[in-house]
Amino acid sequence: MLRTHTCGELNGEDIGGATSLCGWVGARRDHGNLIFIDIRDAYGITQVVFNPKSSQDLHKKAEELRSEFVIRVIGHVGRRPQGTENPKIPTGQIEVAAEGLEILNMAMTTPFEIADDALVTEESRLKYRYLDLRRGVMQKNLRLRHKACKSARDYFDQRNFIEVETPILTKSTPEGARDYLVPSRVNPGMFYALPQSPQLFKQILMVSSLDRYFQIAKCFRDEDLRSDRQPEFTQFDIEMSFVTEEDIYEISEGLMKKLFKDAIGVDLETPFPRLKYAEAMTRYGCDKPDIRFGLELVEITDLVKNSQFKIFRDVAEKAGKVIAINAKGCASYSRSSVDELIEFVKEHGAKGLANFKCEAGKLTSQIDKFFSEEELDAIRSALGSSDGDMLFIVADKKKIAYDAMSNLRKLLGKRLNLIDERSFKFLWVTDFPLFQYSEEDKRWVSEHHPFTSVHPDDLELLKKGDSLDKIRSRSYDLVVNGSEIGSGSIRIHDRNMQELIFKTIGISEDEAKVRFGFLLDAFKYGAPPHGGVAFGLDRLMTLFVGCDSIRDVIAFPKTQKAFCPMTSAPSVVDDKQLNELSIKIKK
Ligand code: AMO
Repeated sequence: MLRTHTCGELNGEDIGGATSLCGWVGARRDHGNLIFIDIRDAYGITQVVFNPKSSQDLHKKAEELRSEFVIRVIGHVGRRPQGTENPKIPTGQIEVAAEGLEILNMAMTTPFEIADDALVTEESRLKYRYLDLRRGVMQKNLRLRHKACKSARDYFDQRNFIEVETPILTKSTPEGARDYLVPSRVNPGMFYALPQSPQLFKQILMVSSLDRYFQIAKCFRDEDLRSDRQPEFTQFDIEMSFVTEEDIYEISEGLMKKLFKDAIGVDLETPFPRLKYAEAMTRYGCDKPDIRFGLELVEITDLVKNSQFKIFRDVAEKAGKVIAINAKGCASYSRSSVDELIEFVKEHGAKGLANFKCEAGKLTSQIDKFFSEEELDAIRSALGSSDGDMLFIVADKKKIAYDAMSNLRKLLGKRLNLIDERSFKFLWVTDFPLFQYSEEDKRWVSEHHPFTSVHPDDLELLKKGDSLDKIRSRSYDLVVNGSEIGSGSIRIHDRNMQELIFKTIGISEDEAKVRFGFLLDAFKYGAPPHGGVAFGLDRLMTLFVGCDSIRDVIAFPKTQKAFCPMTSAPSVVDDKQLNELSIKIKK
């Protein structure tokens, strides 16, 4: 055996014993004649001391050591001299007096220091990911990810779910993003798509009577990247037969409870609160509200539609919305603070931001002369404002007004320190619209995906093809602290209904046959009612770790441009490969 202990293992009880350790050279300190080395491995750090009195040769060899050399040290465990103990690490009581040293491998000077607090650009971290992953924080993140996966697997196993691997080379499943395509050599001109999710396969597994499926599934989406999105990410993917929303909520809440307990020792209270999409939009202006704080939005269109203030009146006449928020205690905001907020809402598409201070029981503003006493009173009481408060108001097209105010709400929540950063506030957002209008494609598309059931109360509207924007679905998102971590729905299991949905979103019968014929065929042979959900593992991990970017919880992530600086993927391929695939690159 090369080693008897790991570098995180030795403590006071081992004093006097012999040991052999393997690892990387971390910090090195020379104190007079003594050389101290921190030897580091996946489990921790142990201090090693080389004393010239015990061996001149050994001491000489230790002088050759540089950071990140891979070494093996043999010696005896001793107590650190009084006053030099380090209570912060498990091995802080002891040190190893070296009696032998073997250099297993040398290392060049690393491009950055292997330390948690080293200041390193993301570019460099990703290029030298093998070094970045040596850092304690990243090691911790990867181990935690493993723990979360194990915890989820145990949970599903105990509940009769079975894990089934679905194909990676498959046919496109639309989830709203572009597909990554893989050319087929043996079928020239044909392409596989990498799955955006295992959606159709998991539904087909229900037709196969599997009853309860789960998978820790890799998904691929060619979409614009942000800090919470990667082109390749992982889901805890679930599907169940003979269920309603309640069954899905119960299983999901149990999973979250176990994951949070096992991963970070947090006890979650269940059941999670629920909020219908329509209410989430009016109260928070978005479908994934952070409910750790209040500051809810209030629509005041009706209160100001007859005022003398032209901007509000015009917006109301054009079916826009006038939305207000009460920034408690902000009446003392300076002109420049207010200007900054005006710029902020403009960045989110709004044309401006009106403000009213509440003083001596009244609202005052540069524009108060355009409002009657009654109108001002009505606004004040609608917002529940009292002296010292500041009201902010945006009037605009509905989507812009809500979007700008939702962002302003988040900003104010942070500025006013209303957010308890240590708490996790879960929320089910339910009853999403079945369809949304895509400005890009100039047609109606599915809000979640086209396999989602219609809300029973809106079935007639769907049959008539009427008021598509008003039709609700049996879908739900799980939101935590303003981040969407999961999404799912009760599915369509009836072939005719599935065909009606395709028709409604402009997928012709022929196209449906080509793209989803296998699903429609499967539905001919006894599909059970079923439903499911998928949780974004990477997003869950960022919550566990408390970091901003999902790149910190993925071993080998891509940059915002979907590039891997370590392997330089994607890269050009040679002509021979392209020829075999019958592919020619357009110049
Ligand atoms: P959806 O597309 O909403 O649903 O995805 C489910 C969850 O996956 C996570 N997620 C992502 N995480 C990182 N990077 C991305 N690019 C990314 N895209 C999505 C989110 C999201 O809530 N098949 C359906 C689920 C179902 O209906 O059962 C689906 O994939 O946390």
